[in-house]
Amino acid sequence: MGRKPIYTRVYNQLRYQILSGELAIGSPLPPERKLAAQLGVSRNTVVRAYAELEAEGFIASRMGSGRYVEALPPAPRIRRIDWNSQHGYESLAASPSHMAELLEVTDRCPNPINFAHGDGGKHTLASSRFSDYVKATAEELPSYYFTSVQGLPQLRELLVEWMGMEQISSPEQVTITSGSQEGLYLITTLLARPGNCIVTEMPTYFGSLQLFQSLGLQIVPVPLDADGMRIDVLEGVLARCRPRFLYTVPTYHNPTGRTLSLERRKRLLALSERYGIPIVEDDAYRHLHLAEEPPPPLKALDETGSVIYLNTFSKLLFPGLRIGWVAASRPFVRLLTRLKELSITTNTLGQLAVAAFLRDGALLPHLTDARRQYAEQAAIMERHLERLRPLGIRWERPAGGFYFWLSLPEEINPRRLMTLCREQGVLIACGDMFLLREAEQPYIRLCFTHERPEQIDRGMAIIARLLHEQKELMT
Ligand SMILES: Cc1ncc(COP(=O)(O)O)c(C=O)c1O
Repeated sequence: MGRKPIYTRVYNQLRYQILSGELAIGSPLPPERKLAAQLGVSRNTVVRAYAELEAEGFIASRMGSGRYVEALPPAPRIRRIDWNSQHGYESLAASPSHMAELLEVTDRCPNPINFAHGDGGKHTLASSRFSDYVKATAEELPSYYFTSVQGLPQLRELLVEWMGMEQISSPEQVTITSGSQEGLYLITTLLARPGNCIVTEMPTYFGSLQLFQSLGLQIVPVPLDADGMRIDVLEGVLARCRPRFLYTVPTYHNPTGRTLSLERRKRLLALSERYGIPIVEDDAYRHLHLAEEPPPPLKALDETGSVIYLNTFSKLLFPGLRIGWVAASRPFVRLLTRLKELSITTNTLGQLAVAAFLRDGALLPHLTDARRQYAEQAAIMERHLERLRPLGIRWERPAGGFYFWLSLPEEINPRRLMTLCREQGVLIACGDMFLLREAEQPYIRLCFTHERPEQIDRGMAIIARLLHEQKELMT
């Protein structure tokens, strides 16, 4: 490596970046002096590397505006791969990248007051003592190898017991996934092809929306009211189109917090049976009621096996654990597991730790304690919201889950508000992530469970100040 002249290293590096598409056609190259300083080489080295690339037609100079990456060199000996046309998913790059945006935001804004992410907060996790189970499991790992593709048998058995549904009576009906998002990805890949249509509530959980859009599915939206998904509207939709499946978060829906009434659950199941449409029930928030318990899951009312049930430890413990599960009829679970096999399995350490936690009966006391804290946090956030009512802010008190879904006055731009909040160290989720099109009324979503009470006070004071300023500016 030391024998080669330095300029060939610079030349090779730039050539690789151009051929691999890292430097796109037409993109500018840094001035010689700047690149020399960046790479810690002399300006002459860069001049020589540029001259060589120019002679081969990789780059060209334009008078007065520096050098640019050229289209393919004439009569190329090497064919450049165009990554944008090499893959089969045009919709992937075309759809919004909300998940990445939301996950990266804490890298750009360290130690924020976080109302954007949906999780139960460090304080409740600490009191669950889950970390003790992780430590003990790591010390006594029975095997450094994998567990089965379908997931650790003991964990699946414990989950059957935890769900307590007669429809799911065997661990054979359960597959562990890397979060319920992977479960939804697998289900969608099995049931639908690009161009097929699916039905879901609108607004809906942004991760599902991004997934459906990226896979090129046609999304038919159904609105919600205080009793959850509007089944009368759904009836009209089904009379006109036959979706591949219906995706729903019937209990403490994300982002609205609404719950499908028992009567509507029965009507929804009757429709699914009449038209033969699978229902994907995402039950992530079921155990997070703030007062009384919600109606039973759709799966517990399912008489024909049409419901595919999804749940996750992301909301019961923490999202970084990446452990969720799918429970359904055996033939569907077998298919799903075949597809899951292509990415091997879910992490063993996490599964063992969760199994130990469940076996010890530690989940229920943790949830009882967490729910008490969440109710207090929700009340604190709502006190702040009450003071914002005169500004035209509207919301419904959620009966469970993690969020307040706020409707803002028309003159407030939620994206602008989100940016201003971030500059002040407060993270919020913008409503358009949960909608197919920008709604007529702007929305934001605030998670009340992540921050402790003092931080909620601080963060809400900042949001209130910014809202007042924005409102004044616009009137
Ligand atoms: C309704 C719903 N489903 C699934 C997920 C993602 O869960 P996981 O972290 O298990 O992939 C979320 C996270 O916000 C959610 O709100």
